[in-house]
Amino acid sequence: MKGLLLLCLLLLFGGQRSSACPHPCSCHGSQVNCSSRSLTSSSLPINFPAGTTSLFLQNNRLTHLPNGFLEGLTSLRSVSLHGNPWECNCGVLYLRAWLLRQPTSLTSHQGVNCSSPPGLRGRLVVHLMEKEVLESCHYWYCDLALASQVCLFVFVVLQAALLVALIVFLKRFERLSKEARRTTEESFTVGESLRDNN
Ligand SMILES: *[C@@H]1O[C@H](CO)[C@@H](O)[C@H](O)[C@H]1NC(C)=O
Ligand SMILES: *[C@@H]1O[C@H](CO)[C@@H](O)[C@H](O)[C@H]1NC(C)=O
Repeated sequence: MKGLLLLCLLLLFGGQRSSACPHPCSCHGSQVNCSSRSLTSSSLPINFPAGTTSLFLQNNRLTHLPNGFLEGLTSLRSVSLHGNPWECNCGVLYLRAWLLRQPTSLTSHQGVNCSSPPGLRGRLVVHLMEKEVLESCHYWYCDLALASQVCLFVFVVLQAALLVALIVFLKRFERLSKEARRTTEESFTVGESLRDNN
């Protein structure tokens, strides 16, 4: 019973949260105004009301949009993104892909331009070639794959060395034990023959 109540409360608050105006933006009807609030990509709110039709994000300090940022907002009709210092590296690919998917009426591509790297400064994000951006990409998972390959190789070499050492050791041990057996047998027979002679 208590659990059910908790669940209801959770659902209620969850529901309320998705329709509340995210801090520090202001909302008028279905318009959400987050412009000129010094927002960075990490301080950007992610819970927007589900029915948001206009989203103002201009004149902030956004360098990239988090992946999937605009995916849940199905009623969007306009998004303002100009006046942000977009970093045109791997992180811009989501924004670029999203812009390319939109009809030009939805969002103005004008002013959505790169502030870095120097070679791409001032270029419109939509007009970037994928190749230009991919060059700057640093694939940590490639490094990881390479590192694990190297580790694997080292382990295999180490195992082979250990195996060889083990074989050499066993061979030597076999020879030693054979020799030892022979010597004990010899001394035994010598001892016996000595005793027999007495
Ligand atoms: C959005 O907010 C900014 C800053 O508070 C304000 O200057 C601007 O007029 C607002 N824009 C709209 C369309 O409400
Ligand atoms: C880039 O956008 C800013 C505003 O966001 C604008 O002032 C500037 O002129 C633009 N630069 C180019 C080269 O389009």
